[in-house]
Amino acid sequence: MKTIMGTLFVMLLPALVLGGGRPVAPNGIPLMEGYRAWQVIAPSYREDKGHIRVILGNDTAVKAMRDGTRPFPDGTVLAKVAWTATKHPKFPVATVPDRFAQVEFMVKDAGKYKATGGWGFARFVGDDLKPYGRDASFVQECFGCHTPVKGNDYVFTGFASVP
Ligand code: HEC
Repeated sequence: MKTIMGTLFVMLLPALVLGGGRPVAPNGIPLMEGYRAWQVIAPSYREDKGHIRVILGNDTAVKAMRDGTRPFPDGTVLAKVAWTATKHPKFPVATVPDRFAQVEFMVKDAGKYKATGGWGFARFVGDDLKPYGRDASFVQECFGCHTPVKGNDYVFTGFASVP
């Protein structure tokens, strides 16, 4: 019995270490833990999708944003969370988040993700956080659309400043 449990544990270990029970994108990037508590880089609104977004960053990302460091250092992680938009029931001219739509990540590792500008991409969709992409080639879609901002290390969002 002990041996079976041990074997099972060894078999499950990579999944536990990589994902910690969290969903994992086809390229091996797991849903980042604790991203909801990261600092806000900026909000955004996408008209065609009717999505309200917030772009968040881990400590490395926030420091690089503040200092204007480009390229972003290894360890930078940016998250973009999207919700469908709705009118506030008590104040309809206010547009507020409704349902969670998806969360996306960009993880900087210049060596590991050299082929896609040093960024690893991942997207998790809907309430069950379904990993996006049939296989690891989905990143070409992400990288392709981020190339207009190659000059800003493939990042669209700037730090929304306050006085
Ligand atoms: C059709 C174009 C397009 C595609 C495809 C796309 N993005 Fe983006 N992405 C954008 C734009 C534009 C922004 C700027 C903020 C916004 O749209 O709300 C952005 C912002 C981001 C951000 C915040 C950092 C930044 O660059 O501003 C992350 C993280 C991100 N995208 C991840 C992804 C991932 C992961 C994929 C693929 C699964 C992906 N994107 C595919 C256009 C795209």
